[in-house]
Amino acid sequence: MGIERLVDTTLDEENHEEQALENSLRPISFNDYIGQERMKRNLKVAIDAVKKRSDGTTLDHILLYGPPGLGKTTMAAVIAHEMGANFRVTSGPAIERAGDLASILTNLAEGDVLFIDEIHRLRRAVEEVLYSAMEDFKLDIVIGKGPAASSVRLDLPKFTIIGATTRAGAIAKPLQDRFGLVERLEYYTEDEIKKIIARTANILNTKIQPDALDLIAARARRTPRIANRLTKRVRDFADVNGDGIVDKTTAEQSLNLMEIDDLGLDPADRNMLNLMLENYGDRPVGLSTIAALTGDEETTISDYYEPYLLQMGLLERTKHGRKVTKKAKDHLAKTGKI
Ligand code: ADE
Repeated sequence: MGIERLVDTTLDEENHEEQALENSLRPISFNDYIGQERMKRNLKVAIDAVKKRSDGTTLDHILLYGPPGLGKTTMAAVIAHEMGANFRVTSGPAIERAGDLASILTNLAEGDVLFIDEIHRLRRAVEEVLYSAMEDFKLDIVIGKGPAASSVRLDLPKFTIIGATTRAGAIAKPLQDRFGLVERLEYYTEDEIKKIIARTANILNTKIQPDALDLIAARARRTPRIANRLTKRVRDFADVNGDGIVDKTTAEQSLNLMEIDDLGLDPADRNMLNLMLENYGDRPVGLSTIAALTGDEETTISDYYEPYLLQMGLLERTKHGRKVTKKAKDHLAKTGKI
């Protein structure tokens, strides 16, 4: 992604400080995981059932999908913790060849949870090896090449795959079918976001006044990753410009400095909406045209900008493309151009 956005929902893996922050704030059990109540309920039933059976069966493979930043990795780690299992992490793009997957799988222990982030980006050849591994815990590998090649079947320990994706639609049907549980992460309510900010402030040892908490929550795009990032930035601002206590004025000044408006939009969102309005007015605009207007990749628009804008009713998806809604127009008129 070109410009660095504060409301970017990707976790910058090169940024060790952000990684460390995210890790230190991660809840480890269902009890301290705020929100996603329906999902927690379903998962608890599945986990309790496996524990009760105690006949060597393992937890079904689980697919978690939904917009970035809502806690898929966190939820996967919580599931492993609740199962008392090891949590191993990899991602679709990191597994380059079938051999890479074979080595990951043969190194698993019975009951381990293997988390595969961005599972929609697995290569086809890797995906095919994964099918039989998920289905009957066997690994089919081909040894040698040409006429002398032979194939062997290795037994694998029983494990649970937790796959995560921002795009459930991008997953091949045979792979999707191998997940016993498919759960969608929802945007959080403002109330849940407030609880997450209060929890984070407590861990960071920062005092946030209730009206400041309301203000940060309103601008956090219903997304914990953003809520935590904003909380940290506001805290830094309060430390530098005041006595470290976050009150409404400090929070407002700090968020205005970041150019995040009262709906949580940043300059990049407003720029996209303005460009669509200026060039197409009320007519629907195709994804590729929007990407050309903003200079972003299509997937950046569809996976990162769009979900929140749709959720907030600022953008509408029609058969012929995307349209800026009246709500967005009113908001932009009020906020002004960037
Ligand atoms: N930090 C990030 N996501 C969280 C959640 N859902 N509950 C508690 N803390 C979080």
